[in-house]
Amino acid sequence: MNGTSPVSKPTPSSNPLPPSFIGVFDSGVGGLSVLQQIHASWPEAATLYYADQAHFPYGPKPADELHQYVDSAVQMMIASGAAGIVLACHSASASSLLRLRASYPDIPFIGLEPAVKPAAEATKTGVIGVLTTQITSQGALYKSVVERFARHVQVITQVAPELVELAESGDIESDHANAVVRGSLAPLIEANADQIVLACTHFPFLAPTISAITGAKLVDPAAGVARQTRRMLENRLTPGEGRVYLTSGDPAAFLATAARLLQQSHLDVRKSPL
Ligand code: DGL
Repeated sequence: MNGTSPVSKPTPSSNPLPPSFIGVFDSGVGGLSVLQQIHASWPEAATLYYADQAHFPYGPKPADELHQYVDSAVQMMIASGAAGIVLACHSASASSLLRLRASYPDIPFIGLEPAVKPAAEATKTGVIGVLTTQITSQGALYKSVVERFARHVQVITQVAPELVELAESGDIESDHANAVVRGSLAPLIEANADQIVLACTHFPFLAPTISAITGAKLVDPAAGVARQTRRMLENRLTPGEGRVYLTSGDPAAFLATAARLLQQSHLDVRKSPL
């Protein structure tokens, strides 16, 4: 926890985390949709959430550039005591999951891949939509799940950076948000997609708006990722609770948005540049 400074209430002690904890990483607030599932299924686990908001958004950036950011954050989390790391970001998983597993063989990494399989199994119209970012749509993980699980259905891939921006700013249900979501989803509605895969962790925060507009079933892998996290890390954490949030951006802005998205006002948020 070197180089961090507390900004929020309640005032945290200098190191409120036990010696080992789960590291959870995203470019911004989106990974909180995964973190809240981890907290729901494993409330006593200590967590360090890292939002690399200084480099947000990740989606439009090249994989090698993203990997540098992700690797720096991972090094910091491991040095602080992360027993395992959840890449709660499809974009970071696309750029870095395989490279990180090769670089840190002793650390379990849990990554996110688009949940194409359950959508392809459940579709009645034979059309599934995948809402995602540019880097995820171009990555090998995505190509592989589409080839393995969705050959028999039509897959409409919709890259939607404007939805990432909405969620990152906490604007998830205004008239403006509704209009933007409606525009982004038009190709999926037109194609009669009855399953929409949320292949960016920012999008579950827009789920009520997306559902209201499309009526489609939304597929979010976060609950499964949380169960997998517990299975993989249960024997590696030392007992002790604690929830800390770091950002490389503006901690006050992170706190305001995260508090709204998580509906919790007391979060221990600190600044930590990469
Ligand atoms: N939450 C990230 C993801 O799942 C956001 C992408 C971004 O920063 O553009 O891909």
